[in-house]
Amino acid sequence: VLCLCLIGLSQTANLTYDELKRELESYIKNKEKEINQRYRPLYHVAPPVGWMNDPNGFAYHNGLFHLFYQFYPYDSKWGPMHWGHVTSTDLVHWKQKPTALLPEEEQCFSGSGITYDNNLVLMYTGHVLTEEEPFYKQSQYLAFSDDGVNFEKFRLNPIITSPPNNSPDFRDPKVWKHENDFYAVIGSKENGNGTVLLYKSSNLTTWEYLSVLAQSTGELGYMWECPDFFELDGKFILLMSPQGVRENGDRYKNVYQTGYMVGTFDYDNNIFETDGEFQELDYGHDFYAATTTEAKGIRYLTAWFSMWEVPHPEDVDGWIGTTTLVRELRLVNNRLIMKPVEEIVDLRESLALQGNLSTNQVHDFGKAVEILIESNLNQNIDLLLNGLNGGGQVQLKYDATNRTVSVIRDGEVRRVEWAPIGSQIWRIFLDTSSLELFCGEGEVVFSSRVYPLGGWRLTNNSPQTLKITAYTLMRSVPGNSSIRNKSFSGTIISVITLL
Ligand code: FRU
Repeated sequence: VLCLCLIGLSQTANLTYDELKRELESYIKNKEKEINQRYRPLYHVAPPVGWMNDPNGFAYHNGLFHLFYQFYPYDSKWGPMHWGHVTSTDLVHWKQKPTALLPEEEQCFSGSGITYDNNLVLMYTGHVLTEEEPFYKQSQYLAFSDDGVNFEKFRLNPIITSPPNNSPDFRDPKVWKHENDFYAVIGSKENGNGTVLLYKSSNLTTWEYLSVLAQSTGELGYMWECPDFFELDGKFILLMSPQGVRENGDRYKNVYQTGYMVGTFDYDNNIFETDGEFQELDYGHDFYAATTTEAKGIRYLTAWFSMWEVPHPEDVDGWIGTTTLVRELRLVNNRLIMKPVEEIVDLRESLALQGNLSTNQVHDFGKAVEILIESNLNQNIDLLLNGLNGGGQVQLKYDATNRTVSVIRDGEVRRVEWAPIGSQIWRIFLDTSSLELFCGEGEVVFSSRVYPLGGWRLTNNSPQTLKITAYTLMRSVPGNSSIRNKSFSGTIISVITLL
């Protein structure tokens, strides 16, 4: 067996890049058939097989949205990074594309995408293993595509070899264009502090280092991954995913964080002046490595809908990871608010429920549902969402005294104050293994993975009757069409309390 494996390995080693790509596509096609569908999302992007982490290269190019992701096809765990690829016209319906980047001597870590000279250009981190401590080196690479499907790596890679601070941690370039120049922010670490470096280029291939755009002074972690920098509603936003921020009461309870700072920036002196603290972007259990793109004047965001170093129950099914729903961003009172992309309403297939759910009443739904809840915020809300056939469950609560919203999964509480700035409705998106709760105008959002078996059951444990409108949602991502999103007739079942 060992011999056969070695022969197999040496044959793979002799393949050209294009041959490797073809082999990979046929591997994916075959392997896909073996994937257990029970937790596969119906309207969230997931890898066809294997592992996914960060969304990458999110870009609007020639009328089409492109979303890539960190991808290891050969196992449901992290491995040498590829870039998976999906496209969409509306950020809601997604099509699977061939794997865009395969590792060679460099693993293809996170990065971004931009249109240049009619090409879709990907700027990514090449992670190269070395013989000496720390046993890796990170540099920036480019790949080009004139058809938006096939990507060719730039022959003069790497284009930025190392940062001025010589840190081996130098990754996740986010590129954008301002007037006639390109700019990029790149995550790094300097003396144990998370750092974002700013670069400039006129042609994407030669880069000039400009400045440290921002840096932790100790309390904001040792490494800042996946930086993004953009203008929104008159301010500049630095979005990043810090590692090493210590838990503080209800804040920073996940393994790693994703958040932002708001400030001002001018392109003449390259100084970002923050006028506020770092703020978490999403308060759920699973949200990391958020990234944005802009199209038609709207700033869109998506994130890895998972977390490092936590259990991923789908791993035994042959895949791991999804991305969150794409959200539209606005800046209100110096805080980012996130709403699901408007086109999400196109997924509404049928009305699943319209009416009142009184205390102790239960309603059963399919696997993919949107639930809108109107309530009286002078009273508590207490909802249980669990599986028709058991499995994972989650509680959603509103405490009218403290004005806090909590999402509680397996005893793990995520909680934050909520002061509505407009609408007081809760909008809940449930998929086969996820929950997203958008409060009001999106000033408070929770994203948490939950693994119910069967469809979703909603129980109203609140002291108040809730007004509910719910829709069964249709599938909008590639997947096994034999799996149906069974919807229920809309009857409300009373809970029988067993004494
Ligand atoms: C963030 C991250 C990035 C890196 C990639 C590797 O989750 O650690 O910093 O480029 O994942 O897969």
